[in-house]
Amino acid sequence: MARYGPNEHDVLIIGGGGAGLRAAIAAVEANPKINVAVLSKVYPMRSHTVSAEGGAAAVIKANDNLDLHAYDTISGGDWMSDQNAVEAFVKEAPEEMLRLEHWGCPWSRQDDGKIAVRPFGGMKIERTWFAADKTGFHMLHTLFQTTLKYEQIRRYDEWFVTSLLVDDGRCQGVVAIEISSGKVEAIAAKSVIICTGGCGRVFPFTTNANIKNGDGMALAYRAGVALKDMEFVQYHPTGLPFTGILITEAARSEGGWLLNKEGYRYLQDYDLGVPQPKPVLRSMELGPRDRLSQAFVKEQEKSRTLKGPYGDFVHLDLRHLGEKVIDAKIPFVRELCLKYENIDPVKDMIPVRPVVHYMMGGIHTDILGATSLKGLFAAGECACVSINGANRLGSNSLTEIVVFGARAGKAAAQFAAEQTSMSSSTAQLTADEQKRIESQFYDSGKRTEKIAALRKEMHEAMESGAGIYRTESSLKKSQERIQALQERFKNISLSDRSFTFNTELVSAMELSYMVDVAETIIESALKRHESRGSHQRIDFPARNDQNFLKHSLAYRTPNDLPRIEYLPVTITRWPPGERVYGR
Ligand code: FUM
Repeated sequence: MARYGPNEHDVLIIGGGGAGLRAAIAAVEANPKINVAVLSKVYPMRSHTVSAEGGAAAVIKANDNLDLHAYDTISGGDWMSDQNAVEAFVKEAPEEMLRLEHWGCPWSRQDDGKIAVRPFGGMKIERTWFAADKTGFHMLHTLFQTTLKYEQIRRYDEWFVTSLLVDDGRCQGVVAIEISSGKVEAIAAKSVIICTGGCGRVFPFTTNANIKNGDGMALAYRAGVALKDMEFVQYHPTGLPFTGILITEAARSEGGWLLNKEGYRYLQDYDLGVPQPKPVLRSMELGPRDRLSQAFVKEQEKSRTLKGPYGDFVHLDLRHLGEKVIDAKIPFVRELCLKYENIDPVKDMIPVRPVVHYMMGGIHTDILGATSLKGLFAAGECACVSINGANRLGSNSLTEIVVFGARAGKAAAQFAAEQTSMSSSTAQLTADEQKRIESQFYDSGKRTEKIAALRKEMHEAMESGAGIYRTESSLKKSQERIQALQERFKNISLSDRSFTFNTELVSAMELSYMVDVAETIIESALKRHESRGSHQRIDFPARNDQNFLKHSLAYRTPNDLPRIEYLPVTITRWPPGERVYGR
């Protein structure tokens, strides 16, 4: 590797979760002579992939096929998915699952030794592979240990990216802070892949870890790349009320019931898109997430939810499953309930409420993960290659991170091989960035705003105006509050002026990323005058294919609201129709 300086790489990946690690492996497998770096603000095994629970979708059963998986995904996404991307996804999904098996992923088995699959919301056939209810943990372990085989993969653990290094019209690396020392350095690369996950922390109640702040989305947005379909924010119907911790859909897949305060399975009163006059009792708890979360709000309006210190909730009842099934199939659910709620689901009902879980939108990429900025790629939840449309089906995202992580890794390796030079301006760019950070966060001026207060204001603005149901007026109010936050952020004051492990500095930068991302969510939602999937406008209650069968693209315009442009949805074989579920 003598031809490289210490901070120079062919491919640099930001983010050490499932998509990032899969991209790193794909890049070195595509070109073993390559020099790859994975930079992550946390040690890779602490990435949010580790907390994914229920499973990863891929066709495996004899009665299933790729078209059925594609159709479920497309109708689940309310026809906003790009069908060419979905077709590639479902085809490569089983190959990726088997590859993980060969790398050591301990998939759960049937008694006859075959791979076990479970049903998941909105999927008409069982195709969700799982490793008990710690699927993300096992997938991440498998990918991490596989990266260790390759000496070509270098890691920057606990480094935080402050900006993309754009030189000569292409992305040529990043400027980042080593969190342990506070040192600011440029890391040059011929191509960069952003794999930083979603931005659930923009909202107050979320299954997302504290680290999911939309960092990569904001970095790309600030560099002029569009954020696509940001109005589509997924609420998961079963999070714990205070912490937002996920109670996996697998609990309902194993037969759990959702009950209102009267002990009634209220979902039977709602249109979940399931055929027949009423949903079949067996399948209603496995309706799509957007419809289940909307049903919760309707129950709340009818005063049929329960009241708790952290807002309204309903009950998830697993007691009829019995201890044996709970311990065998969903042991982590029991562990989480015992540790975080001091209740045992074998005997007690679990309080749950809808919490923000996943962003369907993200960095606009093509089907290989390439963005509009040369040399910049993205994969995983931070990206929007457009398989999830307006509502992702549970268990498609763990598969997405490996399918599109691998695609982006190969494409970025190929792009790097075609470049003959690296940026020669790294010293200047590092100095500029260092100056910016010092003047914004370390100068001695009199500043008064505190991170916690601004974050609280952002949370309240987003939940009240851009939550499960939205209107023009609720969105406008939130927009004013978020724009005010952009101004207030300029007056942010840090108590910690040191350089060593300054987590307050990191939090401040994360907050500024979140505020940028929040403005794209709101403006895209304001401009979409229809209801589709997770985007429900009370003032425009119907889906409007004539005017809105198109992706929104939010571009940054300095000192102004994001500019929204549109892009047609790619339809290959499945013309828009009604969403129909049921098993
Ligand atoms: O409920 C769950 O286990 C979530 C899975 C997913 O979002 O794919």
